[in-house]
Amino acid sequence: MILFENVTKTYPRTTRPALDDVSLEIPRGEFAFVVGTSGSGKSTMMQLVMKEQDATRGRILVAGRELDRLPERKVPALRREIGCVFQDFRLLPNKTVFQNVAYALQVLGSSRARIRQTVPETLELVGLAGMEKRLPHQLSGGEQQRVAIARAFVNRPPVLLADEPTGNLDPDTSLGIVQLLDRINRTGTTVVMATHDTVTVNAMRKRVVRLDRGVLVSDMEAGDYTTGSIPRIRLDDEPAAAPRPMAAEAPDVADGYDDADPTAYGESDLDDDPDALPPIGRDADEPRPRGGIFRRHKAVQTSDR
Ligand SMILES: Nc1ncnc2c1ncn2[C@@H]1O[C@H](COP(=O)(O)OP(=O)(O)OP(=O)(O)O)[C@@H](O)[C@H]1O
Ligand SMILES: [Mg+2]
Repeated sequence: MILFENVTKTYPRTTRPALDDVSLEIPRGEFAFVVGTSGSGKSTMMQLVMKEQDATRGRILVAGRELDRLPERKVPALRREIGCVFQDFRLLPNKTVFQNVAYALQVLGSSRARIRQTVPETLELVGLAGMEKRLPHQLSGGEQQRVAIARAFVNRPPVLLADEPTGNLDPDTSLGIVQLLDRINRTGTTVVMATHDTVTVNAMRKRVVRLDRGVLVSDMEAGDYTTGSIPRIRLDDEPAAAPRPMAAEAPDVADGYDDADPTAYGESDLDDDPDALPPIGRDADEPRPRGGIFRRHKAVQTSDR
């Protein structure tokens, strides 16, 4: 669904890259956290997926589209496949909850009948049934973020990006928001969430990708935000779980890419080749992998867990 191959992003008039040779694969239907200190490149990664920024080097595939070859006129189609949620909610202040969510469908040209059906369904999904007529200032922060998630998800995009969605919320509310993203993920939507929120990350036991000054330094299934050590690697790789069916996704014939075609993502021989396993982390003596796809490994359970 999302593939980064040796992606480097250097912003103009800066010397150090914001992302430095990052290779990463996030398969369809996965939930991944991206963690790292401020300035480590989390938002840059999100912006590259949206094609709000272009990579300086490397290759990015999103939903079968190769972004550096994607003509400008096809960027809106890419963005329709990606819902986005931000720390500051970004709701329209003078529009009701219903109107904020409906707006996302109106700009896509959806019919009134479809809007009337889909918006209440989505508000119910995010736990806001009955609040349709409220204005954003009449909602708590957590409720506002639920509206923003409803707006991002109302057209059932295959990918949802959330950049610090719990940054302005208290811990309990944050957990509720991440559980909602988890529910959305279970419908088949790939979710990538950038966060500093250690409590939430540790509670969810999902994949955790860690950036440090632009470098991908670890990538763990059922990860722990605070684990600074290099996880031990189990080499007898289990077969990957079967992908969950997508909620609403048709082959994108118009673009000449078929999202159902796994070869479109370049997912191939690495899965079968145990020698292709790169080491994790760049601490200690471990060399940092360069080239190839940075694969996930299950950390072996250790006695202190
Ligand atoms: N538009 C820009 N122009 C120049 N440099 C930028 C730009 N955006 C980000 N950077 C730089 O790129 C690096 C990564 O920034 P980025 O916003 O991706 O980090 P982040 O991990 O999202 O941080 P935070 O947790 O504070 O949101 C930082 O050094 C930042 O100063
Ligand atoms: Mg950021």
